[in-house]
Order: sequence, then structure tokens, then C-alpha cells
Amino acid sequence: MNLPMRNHPCWCGSGEKYKKCHLELDSQMEDLRSRGIPVPARKLLKTEEQINGIRQACQLSKVILDEAGKCIRPGISTAEIDRLVYQLTRDSGAQPATLNYKGFPASCCTSINEVICHGIPGKQILAEGDIINVDVTTVLNGYYGDTSRMFFAGIPSAEARQLVEVARECMDLGIQQVKPFNRIGDIGEVIENCATRYGYSVVRDYGGHGVGMEFHEQLFIPHYGERGRGMVLVPNLVFTVEPMINAGDFRCKLLEDGWTTITADGSLTAQWEHTILVTKTGVEILTA
Ligand code: MF3
Ligand code: CO
Ligand code: CO
Repeated sequence: MNLPMRNHPCWCGSGEKYKKCHLELDSQMEDLRSRGIPVPARKLLKTEEQINGIRQACQLSKVILDEAGKCIRPGISTAEIDRLVYQLTRDSGAQPATLNYKGFPASCCTSINEVICHGIPGKQILAEGDIINVDVTTVLNGYYGDTSRMFFAGIPSAEARQLVEVARECMDLGIQQVKPFNRIGDIGEVIENCATRYGYSVVRDYGGHGVGMEFHEQLFIPHYGERGRGMVLVPNLVFTVEPMINAGDFRCKLLEDGWTTITADGSLTAQWEHTILVTKTGVEILTA
């Protein structure tokens, strides 16, 4: 992308002159780049039009997840949750992003108890006290919105409830680090600190990702790390924060189906996910 002239409209589509919109930010980015600090490729930065499309997809995913949550109780199968997500998505004129994605056979992921992520909906029936992550990604008008939450079937054990709450806090703290010129490592550090304070561990094999025009874009967001390390965050980036927190150790095991990922030690695990936008002043949670 070539940068506009000072008095021409900004590349972001705000309608403002470039000099009043992204010029200052772009030159700060150039300055960092020249000092050897990693800055995002320009093609990862979204225009206003793209952001509006992504925001709509994100809001749809959020509403579908609200509905999915309402049907969660002991006795329901994960296939029933999946059917609901499929119907609501299609009725809204959208597609479930996971369906046939690299061969994934369902419209959402349902990950129960020791399943970290990518659980495949099917015959399994939720039991009293189960904890479950439902992960919904819709494609609306070509734009992607990705979000997941934990739900309880009935009443969870005290241990399960605490894990779920801490995982939520990890996500929230990570998102609070998102503002222009913070670094990707700032997100990981606060998440890792929060998890380890409770004796939990952070999954390393999967992380957040750029999202919007595609399901998984280039940017990778580890949920562990060190402050001041990694890529600089700049306005118009869109990515997910989706920490997976294990009650035991961080190692993962992939099951025979090629998707379902469980904790290697069989411990409980929990995950929450939002798609977020870096704004000029901080962050907008697009899936809130
Ligand atoms: N929604 C998941 C994520 O947060 C990805 C699921 S891909 C699938 O990135 F193929 F497993 F569905
Ligand atoms: Co995601
Ligand atoms: Co997801």
C-alpha cells in the first residue's frame, strides 16, 4: 500500500485528510521499524470499511454465543449446541467459519473439561458439573468474527469454577494491555502472571491470531511472554485474545481425530476469547 499525500484522504477511509489522521502514527511506525523494532505489516491494518464489516460479524458471533449459552444444561448433547449455532448462523445470512475449515466437520467447537480446544460436537451428552467452552466464528459478508466463552452444565466443583473465573480474568487483563505502542509481549506477560499466581499454566501450542478478512491471519499472539518484547501494537490491527489456562501443566495432546486437543495430564482447562480492535486511544472489544 502506498501512503497518501498529506492533504489527500487517509488510507483508512475515515474521510479525514491523511495529515490529520494516520500520518503521525505512520511516521512513528517507520521510526520504530528503522530502529529494528518489529512493527506489523501494513496489510494487517484494517480500513474503516473493513472494520465495520468485521464489527458486524463479531456482533453476530456474540449474539449466537449468547443463544448457545442459554441451552447449556446437563443432558444436552454437543451436537444439539452445534445444530443451534448452524441454524442461527444461516438464518442470519452468514456461514459458520469452522464448517469444512481444513476439514473440521461442525459449526462451532465444543471443548469439555480436559479438552483445551477444537472439540468436535457430537453424541457426547453434558453431565452435571461439566465445564464447556463453546467457540463460535461466523463469516458475514466475507468478514470474520471469533469469540468463545465457558459455560457450566449445572453446578461445577469449586475448583472448576475458580479455573473458569481465573481464565476469564487472564483474558480481561490481556485485553487491558492492548493500546497503541504497547507490545504483544505485554499481553502474554500479564496473562502468564495471573495464571501462575493460582498455580495454573498457560497453553503454548495455540494462541491468539489476526482475524477479519480471513479466519487466521498472520499475526500470532502468545498468551505468555515478557513485557516490552514482540511486535508493537498499532491502531487498526484486529486480533483475538484467547488464553487457554490449564489447572495442571501446559502440555497438550492431540487426539486421533486430528482436532480435539486435551491436556496431556488430564487436568481441567478453560478458555475465553474476544476479537479486538486496536484504536487510536486503546482497544475496542468487537465481540462484547
Ligand atoms: N475458533 C478457533 C479459534 O479461536 C478456531 C477453530 S478452527 C476449527 O481460533 F477448525 F477447529 F474449528
Ligand atoms: Co480464535
Ligand atoms: Co475461536
